[in-house]
Amino acid sequence: MENFQEVRKKFSEDIKEVGSFGDLEELEQDYFGRKDGYFTSVMKQIQDLPNEEKGEFGRKGNETKQELKQKIKEKREELEQERLKNLVEKESIDVTQPALDTDRSGHIHPITKVTRELAEVTKSMGFVVEDGPELESKFFNFDALNIPANHPARESQDTFYIKDNEDWCMRSHVSNMQARMMDKYGLPIRAAYPGRCFRNEAIDASHEHTFDQFEALVVDKDISIGHCVGVIEELLNDLFDQEVEVRVRPGYFPFTEPSFEMDMSCVICNAEGCSVCDHIGWVEMLGAGLVHPNVIEKAGYDPDEWSGLAFGMGLTRLAMMKYGIGDIRHFNSGDLRFLNQF
Ligand code: FA5
Repeated sequence: MENFQEVRKKFSEDIKEVGSFGDLEELEQDYFGRKDGYFTSVMKQIQDLPNEEKGEFGRKGNETKQELKQKIKEKREELEQERLKNLVEKESIDVTQPALDTDRSGHIHPITKVTRELAEVTKSMGFVVEDGPELESKFFNFDALNIPANHPARESQDTFYIKDNEDWCMRSHVSNMQARMMDKYGLPIRAAYPGRCFRNEAIDASHEHTFDQFEALVVDKDISIGHCVGVIEELLNDLFDQEVEVRVRPGYFPFTEPSFEMDMSCVICNAEGCSVCDHIGWVEMLGAGLVHPNVIEKAGYDPDEWSGLAFGMGLTRLAMMKYGIGDIRHFNSGDLRFLNQF
């Protein structure tokens, strides 16, 4: 018959070696594991014993089992006490230590600042402001926006597609939110959505592969270009705290008709010409127009009943103009000498 006394002795030796919760778990498995723990296999022996021995064997086995289980419980409590004691020692605060260097506390990134300022103004005009997905389906990035299958912007030179699944891309503009917002809120709608965009660009002082845009969309009754210009002016005047010099040019976007683009007088060189404005004194700031009837129709509404305006601003370029930053590449550089200036 199994010598339970020997087992107790062996267990006492084993538990002395336990120094962590992990060790204790292992010990518990060795003795009480359901599959191949010591007690599981020893108790199976009961069926091979003569009937008169079965009772005593079972009783002794169970007694030993309960005793050892109690020891494991006590060890666990001991380890827990030890853990708490170490924690108190490690995490106690020495109030006599000098204060931390407060000059090194963080602050808001300039892009976040501009985003928040634009969001505040648009909210005050009754717009909902929302974030959108950066990884986007071709449907929302192009199809819902009336961008034809052969449009150059779809080509991989401009758009980052997902490897092995070209139905998905990194959004090339925040206009991906137009159909999403109409779908979510229905019409009429006033919505704004800032966010990061991605393009396979040749990088220079005013072009990044990863940059931010801020777009606004209004769909309602009898919306005109006058409304569109009005909202843009309000946003720019508020952001720059003064009237800014802008010019408007005709433009082309498949999702607006008519379309226009707006440039801002370059504050980096006082419009005298530099690498940011490509030596022409003007920096392209936004694309805009009246929402194309096909976009309204694709969203499931009647374009004879509804009309809209939309404009998408280059938020990173606005930040450049606001803070006089002469190279767009600073924003993503992570260089603290640049960031600490804000
Ligand atoms: C668009 O992205 C349109 N979705 C804008 C729009 C929205 C038009 C709604 C009509 C209605 P565009 O590619 O021109 O348009 O970009 C808009 C602005 O983003 C530009 O004027 C520019 O200020 C900024 N931008 C574009 N590409 C870059 C880049 N590589 N780096 C930094 N800013 C950029």
